[in-house]
Amino acid sequence: MDIDSIKTQIEQEVQNIASSGQMSEFKFKYLGRKGIIAELTSSIPNKPKEERASFGQEVNRLKSKLNILISEKEKTLSSGLSQGGLAVVDIGMPGIAQELGQLHPITQVMEEICNIFMRMGFQVVEGPEVETEYNNFTGLNIPLEHPSRDAFDTFYLKDYDRLLLRSHTSPVQVRAMKEHKPPLAIIVPGRVYRPDAVDASHLFMFHQIEGFMVDRGVRFSDLKGILEVFAKGIFGRDIKMRFRPHFFPFTEPSAEVDISCIICKQKGCSVCGRKGWLEILGSGMIHPNVFKNVGHDPAKYTGFAFGMGIERIAMLKYGIDDIRLFFENDLRFLKQF
Ligand code: DAH
Repeated sequence: MDIDSIKTQIEQEVQNIASSGQMSEFKFKYLGRKGIIAELTSSIPNKPKEERASFGQEVNRLKSKLNILISEKEKTLSSGLSQGGLAVVDIGMPGIAQELGQLHPITQVMEEICNIFMRMGFQVVEGPEVETEYNNFTGLNIPLEHPSRDAFDTFYLKDYDRLLLRSHTSPVQVRAMKEHKPPLAIIVPGRVYRPDAVDASHLFMFHQIEGFMVDRGVRFSDLKGILEVFAKGIFGRDIKMRFRPHFFPFTEPSAEVDISCIICKQKGCSVCGRKGWLEILGSGMIHPNVFKNVGHDPAKYTGFAFGMGIERIAMLKYGIDDIRLFFENDLRFLKQF
């Protein structure tokens, strides 16, 4: 066979290669030790003297052409393309799924709580996590000797006099009331910090939602009605609620609010400590001293306030027994929400 017809044959055969197995066979046939190229090369000395040089050159050209064809073909084979640019893909195969992210469970619960209050006309306001000692304590009628002001219970900023990481979202009451005149209906979601030893129910950082309403003639019964809509919205229509007298410096009277245990339905379980009730928040009527501190006349305005921990609400809602799970970034946990 002359070199031209070998070249034509090579071009046809290369086109028909459809797998790496066929490519190996093809390479063996032409480039193998006893392959066609080797055969041509070894026949050079048998050619008449005057043809040897040009024949040798032709063999070399054929060989480099062959190598180019092979490397091109290998590229299309490895990218799944061959024969006239048609894709060799099984279009019936399932696709490669893209993993979608989602909101963190605490963000989800926070939004759910905010939405319930927004439907009742509350506005969302945020405040800074670095707060003044005045807004966090003094303005809220928390006296200097109160244990929460101790350095063991609040993160004070070392080199900044009278600045701290807020220990609750209540200071936004002071900020908002100083800036705006009543009527006000505000909720404040956000992060708070306390130097607590970490265990299943404590972290040095967690989230709270503060809420308050101020106007002429706001009554304790308004607080009860609003909180009932909230608790039933989050925990379901069947729950019962009770207000227990309590003390907070910034409200008078003050109450802690319990819901009937959603886990044991008041039969008694370890979560409610066999009491049948779960504490969900603190609340009360805004103390006249707080109104004075922000420049409103307590003879004119009344208001209620409440504050709750978002992690606690989320733990009760989903039956989670360890607060640390929220912040370990374990996707097996997070993907369940
Ligand atoms: N600030 C309180 C805390 O962090 C929660 C709280 C209780 C907020 C009663 C209030 C309230 O507005 O009236 O424990």
